[in-house]
Amino acid sequence: MIEKVGLNSAISRLFIRKFLYPVRILAINQLLYPSNLYPYSDKEPPMTLKTVATTPYDDQKPGTSGLRKKVSHFQQPNYLENFVQAIFDSIGDYQGQTLVLGGDGRYFNLQAIQIILKMAAANGFGKVLVGQNGIFSTPAASVVIRKYQAFGGIILSASHNPGGPDEDFGIKYNTGNGSPAPEKITDTIYAHSQVIEQYKIMENTADIDLSQPATFDLEGMQIQVMDAVADYAQLMADLFDFDAIKSLFSNGFSLCFDAMHAVTGPYAVEILENQLGAARGSVINGIPKTDFDGGHPDPNLVHAHELAELMFSENAPDFGAASDGDGDRNMIVGNNIFVTPSDSLAILTANAHLIPAYKDKLYGVARSMPTSQAADMVAKKMGLDCYETPTGWKFFGNLMDADKVTLCGEESFGTGSNHIREKDGLWAVLFWLNILAVRQQSVADIVDEHWLEYGRNYYSRHDYEAVDSDSANQLMSLLRDKVTTLSGSTLGSLTVSYSDDFCYTDPVDQSISEHQGIHIGFTDGSRMVFRLSGTGTSGATIRIYYESHETRPDNMHQDTQEALQELIQLSLSLSQLQELTGRSEPTVIT
Ligand code: G1P
Ligand code: ZN
Repeated sequence: MIEKVGLNSAISRLFIRKFLYPVRILAINQLLYPSNLYPYSDKEPPMTLKTVATTPYDDQKPGTSGLRKKVSHFQQPNYLENFVQAIFDSIGDYQGQTLVLGGDGRYFNLQAIQIILKMAAANGFGKVLVGQNGIFSTPAASVVIRKYQAFGGIILSASHNPGGPDEDFGIKYNTGNGSPAPEKITDTIYAHSQVIEQYKIMENTADIDLSQPATFDLEGMQIQVMDAVADYAQLMADLFDFDAIKSLFSNGFSLCFDAMHAVTGPYAVEILENQLGAARGSVINGIPKTDFDGGHPDPNLVHAHELAELMFSENAPDFGAASDGDGDRNMIVGNNIFVTPSDSLAILTANAHLIPAYKDKLYGVARSMPTSQAADMVAKKMGLDCYETPTGWKFFGNLMDADKVTLCGEESFGTGSNHIREKDGLWAVLFWLNILAVRQQSVADIVDEHWLEYGRNYYSRHDYEAVDSDSANQLMSLLRDKVTTLSGSTLGSLTVSYSDDFCYTDPVDQSISEHQGIHIGFTDGSRMVFRLSGTGTSGATIRIYYESHETRPDNMHQDTQEALQELIQLSLSLSQLQELTGRSEPTVIT
């Protein structure tokens, strides 16, 4: 039996949970773990370790980026605890190892952190690195996991979804490389959540004081409360030419960064204002709030409206940017120009040679399937490999670990590199500032020159939110049937060159991810994509993505929605969207 436990197999864990806990757990641990790792060594038996009986919830399947539900859903008895125990039961042998823990500060963050700390101690972690006040932006958590070689990390966030007692909460697990857990782990977590019978927690212990950096002992597990910004800021200083950016600001360059009352406020103030010398007040909405001040912390022109209005006014500063609830998304805006995230990825790739961290070596570039093909054009010219992955950052992890790609991006305001394994909002802002500092041109001039060289990929995404789930599923299944016969046919003035339900084979581990979106490409290079959101929490969200490629210099400044009009009309008739959902307008256009 002890050998089986040593293998840490699911069977042995089940056996222990069913028959040996709580009486024999100490004796088994004494035999299994060297005394320097054993969390309860030199201590009295942990009288407060409690094994709590529980029953499964049937809806704990992680989506595109972890488990996201309404706060009240997470507050159901044992709901959070079940999922956390399912994570611990799925990640292998972490006894005595280090866990990173932090979140975006939204409502329920602190309560969840205290519960997870007590569960981590009861489950045998040796140490938890937790952000001050329970805060880590998602990219900062990835930095800390990698820097301190943690076993993994738990990030509490529902990203760009609103926060507050009636809004969303989320939780996800990242592996030791700092990356969101791959599907094989999230599937295992789900499987464990469906058969869970008990979880372990330290009871009768006071909450940990997370208000300042300090070290605590929780029944033998060390808790280190860390400055949430310092390690992240240091990495940024290593990657970019801070001196060049400092002189840009000292020469009067103006910036507005909208932190949307979310997690990036303290990071942006420290890096942009304190370290780089942007004028005080350049960071707006910089105080994080548990409900994001009632806003929707999604950095697009609709939700970051204060910034959007400023950037398209007469008083526009030289550069504008925003980040989302947990700091991994970014929006880039110049004086009277919005840079699509797809274009941003292409422009960063084309200018990577100007950045200290990327000038000597650029592996390939990767984008999610619905992201425009602007980066492909750059990669082709530069002789770089370009990968097309399903939606979700977790698909980039393997490519980065295998040194196949350096830069990655998604149309959904996500850009990043192999410096960590998450997308990174402030990183993208600093990359742009570094380019602007070297090129000494406006954002608009840089974008215009880029389009002239590579052509312009007109791009837009239309979201139909909170649609009835059955209707949305019906729409997708009808499309799935239709696409099998479309190839070669003519739709309006366009000829279909391929149409399929995107299926991805990971080039590193050969794992297959099916049904990743309906994908229709035309012979002129334009495309449309249909998929259902995997991060929403009410009903279904249908996302339709449009792209066309324009190479005529005189046609570079059309209105995007007009340039895409034929595709938009085609998508509606092909999908019968209005008939099936009753919707005649998208709820959000980006
Ligand atoms: C959305 C975005 C996707 C991103 C994810 C997490 O997922 O579309 O690109 O990776 O949020 O930020 P979706 O709701 O479309 O499944
Ligand atoms: Zn996010």
